[in-house]
Amino acid sequence: MKKLSIDLSNAPADICKEYDKALAIMAELREDKEDYTGWVNWPATIPEEWMSKMESVAEVVRSKCDKLIVIGIGGSYLGTAAVIEALGGSKPGYPEVVYAGNNMSGYYLAGLEKVVKDNETCVCVVSKSGGTMESRLAFSVIKGWMYEKYGREETARRIVAITDPHKGILREEANAEGYETFEIPSNIGGRYSAFTPGIMFPLAVAGVDIRAFVGGALEMSKDEEYWKEEGVKYALTRHALNEAGKDIEVVEYYDPSLRLIGEWCKQLFGESEGKEGRGLFPASLTFSTDLHSMGQFLQEGHQIFFETVINILNRDKDVTVPESAGADLAGRSLNDINLMAVKGVMAAHRKADIPIVRIDVEDVTEASLGQLLYFLMMTSAVTGKLMGIDPFNQPGVEDYKQEIRNLLGQ
Ligand code: PA5
Repeated sequence: MKKLSIDLSNAPADICKEYDKALAIMAELREDKEDYTGWVNWPATIPEEWMSKMESVAEVVRSKCDKLIVIGIGGSYLGTAAVIEALGGSKPGYPEVVYAGNNMSGYYLAGLEKVVKDNETCVCVVSKSGGTMESRLAFSVIKGWMYEKYGREETARRIVAITDPHKGILREEANAEGYETFEIPSNIGGRYSAFTPGIMFPLAVAGVDIRAFVGGALEMSKDEEYWKEEGVKYALTRHALNEAGKDIEVVEYYDPSLRLIGEWCKQLFGESEGKEGRGLFPASLTFSTDLHSMGQFLQEGHQIFFETVINILNRDKDVTVPESAGADLAGRSLNDINLMAVKGVMAAHRKADIPIVRIDVEDVTEASLGQLLYFLMMTSAVTGKLMGIDPFNQPGVEDYKQEIRNLLGQ
C-alpha cells in the first residue's frame, strides 16, 4: 500500500540538524524499555486470540442491538469516533455507535435516555483507569435505564467493559457482574491505544475491518526505510518550527468527515507535548468551511503558527457538477475542485511565508487510517522527545481533576 508522503513549504532550512537524534529516538522506542511504550510494537504483537475474540464478541453484540453506546473520554473514545466518522459511519446494517461519558453535561446525557428506550441497546464502557469521572457518571446513569428495560441479568449480558487487566473499579465491577471484558495493556496509555481493544472492539461492532486497520499500522511500524527517508521529516519539521518560534500547529483537512481525526490529533499532540512550559498548541480547522471564518487570520494575522494539511487524494464518493452551476464549473468532479482548493490555498499561504506541511494520504480506508494514526503517534512521540519532555505522562491533568473533586467534597 502507498504510504503517506510529506511535502514541506517554507520550512526552516535546518530541519535535518537533529536527524540522527530522531532516528536514535525511534530505535529506542522500538526497544520498548520505557513505561508506556508498549504501543510501538503492538501492531506486530497483538495476539491472534485477541483479534478473533474481538470479532466474535462483536458478532454477539451485533445480534443483540441496533445502537451501541460507547462510554469513554479522551484516548478511550476519540480513536473509535474518528475512524467511524472518517469512514462515513457504521457499515450498512451494523449498529449505529452513539457516544457518552465524554462530557459532564446532564443535558447531553438526558438526550440518550430515548436512545436506550427506543432501541435495542448494548454498551461498551472503555476506561483504562476505570475511575474517570465522566465515564463513571454516564455508565451509572445508562445502566439504570437499562436495568429498567432489561433487568439486571440481561443488562450485564449487554455490557462489554474494556479496562486495565488487573486493577480499577471498572475491572472489579466487571468481575462481580460477569460482563464480557477486554484489556487495555498496562504499558499502553490512552492516547496511544488506537490499536488496542479499547478502540478496535467498538470499531468491529460498527463493521470496520479491524484486521485491515491494524494491518495499516503494522506496515507503517515495520518500515524502517520509510521512517528514515519520509516519516521522520514531519517530526523534525514540527520541532524545528517550534524552535524557530512557532507556537501553534493548525491541522487542516478539506473534508468534514476528518473533523474527529483533527480532535484526535489535538488530544495526542496536546497531552503528549504540552509540558514544562514547552510544546506546540494544536488547533484544527475544517476547510473550506473555516476559510470563511479563519482564512483572514491565517493569511494576514499574527504569524505564530504553521499549518499541517492532511490531504486526501482519492475518495470513493463524488458528484459531478451539473450544467445549472454555470459553464465554468459544469461537468467537473467536486472532489477535483476540492483538490484545487488545497493547491490554491497553499499557494496563497506560501506567498504569506507560512510554513506548511502537507501529508498526502492516498484514500480513506481502514488500512490508510491505520497508517495515518500510527504515523501520528510515532510523530508525536519523537517530537516530544526532541523537545526534551516525556510524551507518555500527563502530570498536568491531575490539578483540575483535584479542584473538581474538592468542589464535590470528595
Ligand atoms: O491519553 C490519556 O491518557 C487520556 O486522554 C485518557 O485516555 C482519558 O483521560 C481517559 O482515561 P481512562 O481511560 O482512564 O478513563
